[in-house]
Amino acid sequence: MSEKSIDQLCEELLAKRERAQSGGGGKAVEKQHASGKLTARERIAKLLDEGSFVEIDEFVEHRCTNFGMETKVFPGDGVVTGYGTIDGRIVYVYSQDFTVIGGSLGEAHAKKICKVMDLAVKNGAPVIGINDSGGARIQEAVDALSGYGNIFFRNVLASGVVPQISIIAGPCAGGAVYSPALTDFTFMVDKVGIMHITGPAVIKAVTGEEVTSEQIGGALTHNSKSGVAQFYCATEDDCLRQVRRLLGYLPSNNLEDAPWEETDEDPFSVNPALRTLVPTNPNKGYNVIDVISGVVDKESFLEVQPLWARNIVTGFARVGGIAIGIIANQANYMAGCLDIDASDKASKFIRFCDAFNIPVVTFEDVPGYLPGRAQEEGGIIRHGAKMLYAYSEATVPLVTIILRKAYGGSYLGMCSKDLGADVVLAWPQAEIAVMGAEGAANIVFRKEIESATDQVAVRKQKIDEYKEAFANPYVAAARGFVDRVILPEETRGALYQALLLTEGKKEQRPKRKHGIMPQ
Ligand code: HXC
Repeated sequence: MSEKSIDQLCEELLAKRERAQSGGGGKAVEKQHASGKLTARERIAKLLDEGSFVEIDEFVEHRCTNFGMETKVFPGDGVVTGYGTIDGRIVYVYSQDFTVIGGSLGEAHAKKICKVMDLAVKNGAPVIGINDSGGARIQEAVDALSGYGNIFFRNVLASGVVPQISIIAGPCAGGAVYSPALTDFTFMVDKVGIMHITGPAVIKAVTGEEVTSEQIGGALTHNSKSGVAQFYCATEDDCLRQVRRLLGYLPSNNLEDAPWEETDEDPFSVNPALRTLVPTNPNKGYNVIDVISGVVDKESFLEVQPLWARNIVTGFARVGGIAIGIIANQANYMAGCLDIDASDKASKFIRFCDAFNIPVVTFEDVPGYLPGRAQEEGGIIRHGAKMLYAYSEATVPLVTIILRKAYGGSYLGMCSKDLGADVVLAWPQAEIAVMGAEGAANIVFRKEIESATDQVAVRKQKIDEYKEAFANPYVAAARGFVDRVILPEETRGALYQALLLTEGKKEQRPKRKHGIMPQ
């Protein structure tokens, strides 16, 4: 056989590339588009900076010989992997290709994913996984299961080392859901992404319940009911845009600081509107997002998990260009109390910020833990403990701003001085006490009230006395639990100063393997 010329060899390579890049080919791609989905490569192209994607392992092939598989070749083995940039910063990416054997995961497919995860950890860059798969490749049996196991293991090794983001843009069912669940943020595309452990047919067979995939596993369900997902996306384009925006707040790995953004906004600007945003009457609601927006850099607030556990707000923002994580009680929703879901939502977010060197700023206006049988039986004790754990464990700068109520155990749960807050600021209407004035007066002065001839008048007088004595920030300030009582309009400048003050914070804790997070 005559030797091939370099041009022939190059032509061969180009032909192989074209074959690999065509995925499942015309009909399968048409079907993908007809079902309202982009292809694996189209998704990567839209996610990354233009022309930045470098594909690796495009010629990987499976080696399964069951059910006649040895005669079949699946381009890229159903997943496209590689790296590229977002806003000029490296990210690693994998995108399951549903047009190739349903994006199902076999041994080779899993190895490709594991390779990019390993590279991401070694090189200190985020991993973004785009999930669109029929699940474990049935023909590959235990090799497919092992593949998932290898991915889960790496998800855990990478946790807190590099940010991990999951996009659900197709089916993601059975045990496959546990990789996204082990990552930091899950984005779901409406009417396209589905996540469930068991589908409608199995549920019907086992429990008799009739449900649709959308009901048990759709984007809205997991964003508003289960708390499995953090971001709801109307379309794939919207999803890829949101992922890019989120990454702008995050460092590439746990050894870096979050990216600082140049801004011409004055970090000390005074915002008079803040003075009237929070009513002094502790029973009146308001939207805490208006307070946050009035303090941070313009348009910089990115809410995380806005549709679930709405009594607590979590999100990222910037102050004078410095990235911060925010936890805030939402007075407009269940009066901003802490319950099981709010505790879970906040504690995961605090731990993420702590792992990635992002200061945590807490806007506090909390009446207490939600009372009730459902909460007690559901384990509010162990869930609430997660917030105490997460704040106390955090060694990033912690700044707490007490806007109004800070009652009882929830005062501690929202990051008091004792739990490690570096700077505690309070507004003049702050009330730091064991409970609200009415409840306190009814207990402390019960005998006087009951024995009075005019009980209503005496009760009112006792409530007023209690309010005067305790419903203010000055008792706590006198003990040093509050560092500064500030005018609401001074908050932005005071927060910026606190962030500068704590920039160099270094805290050593006793050596241990790891703590035991309440379950
Ligand atoms: C092998 C698969 C596959 C799988 C899909 N395909 N899923 N091949 N293993 N798991 C193939 C199909 O045979 C088909 O091949 C092609 O992919 C496209 O699938 P369609 O069924 O035509 O697509 P669609 O109608 O859109 O339906 C998508 C689907 C369905 C709902 C995902 O394919 C499906 O139910 N698949 C099986 C899902 C499943 O039970 N997976 C195992 C889950 S358990 P052809 O050649 O016809 O184009 C699991 C455990 C993980 O994943 C454990 C982790 C620890």
